[in-house]
Amino acid sequence: MSADPVIALKNITKIFGNNPQAALAMLKQGCSKEEVQAQSNQVVGLHDVSLSVNEGEIFVVMGLSGSGKSTLIRHVNRLIDPTSGAIEVNGRDVLSMNMEELREFRRNDVAMVFQNFGLLPHRSVLENVAYGLEIRGLGKSIRHERAREWISTVGLEGYEMSRPHELSGGQKQRVGLARALAMDSDVLLMDEAFSALDPLIRSGMQTQLLSLQKKLRKTIFFITHDFDEAIRIGDRVAVLKDGEVMQVGRPEDIVLRPANEYVVDFVRDVNRARVIRVGAIMDSSQTQHCDVAVQNTATCEDVLPLFAKYDWVGVKDSEGRRVGIISVKIVVAALARHH
Ligand SMILES: Nc1ncnc2c1ncn2[C@@H]1O[C@H](COP(=O)(O)OP(=O)(O)O)[C@@H](O)[C@H]1O
Ligand SMILES: [Mg+2]
Repeated sequence: MSADPVIALKNITKIFGNNPQAALAMLKQGCSKEEVQAQSNQVVGLHDVSLSVNEGEIFVVMGLSGSGKSTLIRHVNRLIDPTSGAIEVNGRDVLSMNMEELREFRRNDVAMVFQNFGLLPHRSVLENVAYGLEIRGLGKSIRHERAREWISTVGLEGYEMSRPHELSGGQKQRVGLARALAMDSDVLLMDEAFSALDPLIRSGMQTQLLSLQKKLRKTIFFITHDFDEAIRIGDRVAVLKDGEVMQVGRPEDIVLRPANEYVVDFVRDVNRARVIRVGAIMDSSQTQHCDVAVQNTATCEDVLPLFAKYDWVGVKDSEGRRVGIISVKIVVAALARHH
């Protein structure tokens, strides 16, 4: 894994309107989004957003409707130009690309999955999944062969000849996912990709994405308005409000240490036992030997049953080294809501 971020958004500000400079000046003076809008009639889409996404991680941006999520993700493949700021993907300056470079970049480097699926209605599932490869100029037999593999990977074998209108919402989004994966790009952009799905189907898609990701190790920039979804699938999560980043961190960092009252409101209803991992709360000053040890990546929910038999157990890292202990007392304290 390389140390440089795959996606780097640096101080991105986006103003919608005909006088962005006036709005920028107001923001510099500390005005809020509402004040800027009221006084200058300019809409602040994003204000000084800096985020970096590392290779192989699922980075989730969570925010309510209108918080700037779509605006943000569209900067990554430059469907939107920022009012100010810089964007790098795989070390390349996206803003300095010319039209031809940008076309190549969108074709090869970043694939996108949309909330409303974005399927071509008159084409079969097979042709939809193969579409990006067709654009890329691949011959029919090779692109169909690859498309079939991805269709079966997402669990849609047998539906190759179906049309989008014959599929359920979950199946349509599997086609959208297969089409993006068929592009074989390292970066996957997903804008509320699961938001239109019923809760059970959505949960199934989350599970599928996580299990695919174990094999694929893509760099995934994932947008959602659902805090539980963010916490469940994100390696790291950014909380966005009114175009500004409130907090960035691992799910357990956010749940254990919400940065402000705004984040606290989301954290309140989270199932802490499923989110908080042993490694984040263990007592690392104690590394004595004991017969029973759990992984530092285990959740509180995973270890709770052990405390029927033991007061404490050891904690080990991925290489099996003893890194601390976890006790019933520590877990209970971590699970107590103190917000
Ligand atoms: N093309 C546009 N023109 C004017 N305002 C826009 C435009 N696109 C988005 N906005 C505004 O920018 C803010 C963020 O929108 P958006 O990124 O779509 O939010 P989200 O995806 O989080 O719902 C909102 O206030 C929205 O009204
Ligand atoms: Mg949106």
